[in-house]
Amino acid sequence: MRKIGVLTSGGDAPGMNAAIRAVVRKSIYHGIDAYGIYQGFSGLITGNIKKLEIGSVGDIIHRGGTILQSARCEEFKTDTGQRQGLACLEKHGIEGLIVIGGNGSYLGAKALSELGFPCIGVPGTIDNDIPGTQYTIGFDTALNTVLDAVDKIRDTATSHERTFVVEVMGRDAGDIALWAGLSGGAESILIPEEPYDMEDIAARIENGVKRGKKHSIIIVAEGVASGAEFAERLTEKTGLETRVSVLGHIQRGGTPTGFDRVLASRLGAKAVELLMEGKGGRAVGMEDGEVVDADLLTVLNKPKHIDHNLYQLSKELSI
Ligand code: F6P
Repeated sequence: MRKIGVLTSGGDAPGMNAAIRAVVRKSIYHGIDAYGIYQGFSGLITGNIKKLEIGSVGDIIHRGGTILQSARCEEFKTDTGQRQGLACLEKHGIEGLIVIGGNGSYLGAKALSELGFPCIGVPGTIDNDIPGTQYTIGFDTALNTVLDAVDKIRDTATSHERTFVVEVMGRDAGDIALWAGLSGGAESILIPEEPYDMEDIAARIENGVKRGKKHSIIIVAEGVASGAEFAERLTEKTGLETRVSVLGHIQRGGTPTGFDRVLASRLGAKAVELLMEGKGGRAVGMEDGEVVDADLLTVLNKPKHIDHNLYQLSKELSI
């Protein structure tokens, strides 16, 4: 392997820069040239590719976003788009590609692997919804961003004795809501993976009020309902004054936590190692503190389950 390409795709996530840095530096350390493909799979089609040096990835380990930029590329879902991408890689003499992103990005990596091009998937998304890894790059930072917001909301909720509905990201996955809800002491947590019971939510709030509780916080993952919609239904049910806070894209930005930087560094380096061993069509991950890799297709076909024990615990602790 003489030349490795790296791209970031889909929703950006804090820690992606640390992963890019790891890929570039690990490659150069082993005498391999590293190429950055800009704007995800779109840049692969248009040939937005540049050689990266050691200094190209200096001063980025602590920065959110991705220096390679990202995109959601419809064209790469087509056979024509994929073949254009492949031609571009071949034109630059790139022999292996590392794709940092979420499920959609993995599909792009899978398509190229099926065309015979060695690709490795590195899980980068705040949603923590990729099988084959306990944690995705960016999840820990997003969790802490949400937690910081929830703590602040709690201050004002207490002062005004209000109920707050906090809408967080997660179209299909409830990990951000669940972890932030548990660590933020939320009264109820609504996630796409579990049905919710309005009677139970109302009863929890009303019991709290009877006990003299000064506030209630309900975390709603965007995949369940919009915060505004849910708050309206809650007010109808309880008659309580409710406010809504939609955290939105602030969850995707910010300085990556130490955990995310270490995770990104380890997974980025492992992806390079796999390509050096002549392997492709793999996805890297972290399981029980160990860096692992698995077949990309198997990972894509495996459902990622919510941690039911954690969900149950959140219910028991928020009585
Ligand atoms: O996949 C990450 C994610 O942040 C989801 O949680 C969210 O639903 C989505 O991206 C938002 O995507 P966009 O930035 O394209 O609106």
